[in-house]
Amino acid sequence: MRKKIVAGNWKMNNGIEETEKLIHAVTNSIASLNLENVRVIVAPSFVSLTTAIESVKNSHVEVAAQNMHQAKNGAFTGEISAEMLVSIGVKTVILGHSERRQYFGENDELIARKIDAALANNLEVIFCFGELLEERKLDNHLLEVGSQLKNTLFHLKPEDFKNIILAYEPVWAIGTGETATPEQAQEMHAFVRNVIAKKFGKEIADSVSILYGGSVKPSNAEEIFSKEDVDGGLIGGASLVAVDFVAIIEAI
Ligand code: PGA
Repeated sequence: MRKKIVAGNWKMNNGIEETEKLIHAVTNSIASLNLENVRVIVAPSFVSLTTAIESVKNSHVEVAAQNMHQAKNGAFTGEISAEMLVSIGVKTVILGHSERRQYFGENDELIARKIDAALANNLEVIFCFGELLEERKLDNHLLEVGSQLKNTLFHLKPEDFKNIILAYEPVWAIGTGETATPEQAQEMHAFVRNVIAKKFGKEIADSVSILYGGSVKPSNAEEIFSKEDVDGGLIGGASLVAVDFVAIIEAI
């Protein structure tokens, strides 16, 4: 059975005190829930990772990083390598987020190298992809996402997928308050699963979790999560508010 996953992407928010507080609020609230097939992940900023890892001990919550550099080490001022993340106990990293693409010039080729570096270090990857508003308006969303998947994932080996989580994040829905309809999400998730099935086989496609991201909130989570191919969510804004994040976890 595919794992259900609710992951919170905190982006550039929260110092260590807020991190500790927010994690404790979440872990206390979910302690009594039955989360047998559900993973809960939070992704704080680099500086809060160690605090977060400490704070989630003995709870159901896991910690992910939001980014990393593709090189092993070297003269890359300000960057963090996969090995460094592993050294503090990080097991999962978000890669390919649209904000990285939009503001930091990351493209498919670079993201593919980051994915390789993460997998080589046994890090699990939450790989984000999605179309722009213009592409959706032109009805090119499937084509665009198909091409992103091809450029970033098709060189992988089938066994790499045990360490891959996919996250469909339509760029027009991120931080905008606008959400894809459950039908739009389902259409894309089924398409993505089919692309993976064609390239890597049905077994891999059936076992890979595909999350939806883009303005998921307590009021829309349940409907989106009810779709067959939606295995959870990558949550931005709403994951910064404990009661909202917990309500989204309850929705799954
Ligand atoms: P949002 O962000 O929930 O604030 O739209 C989602 C994301 O960027 O992962």
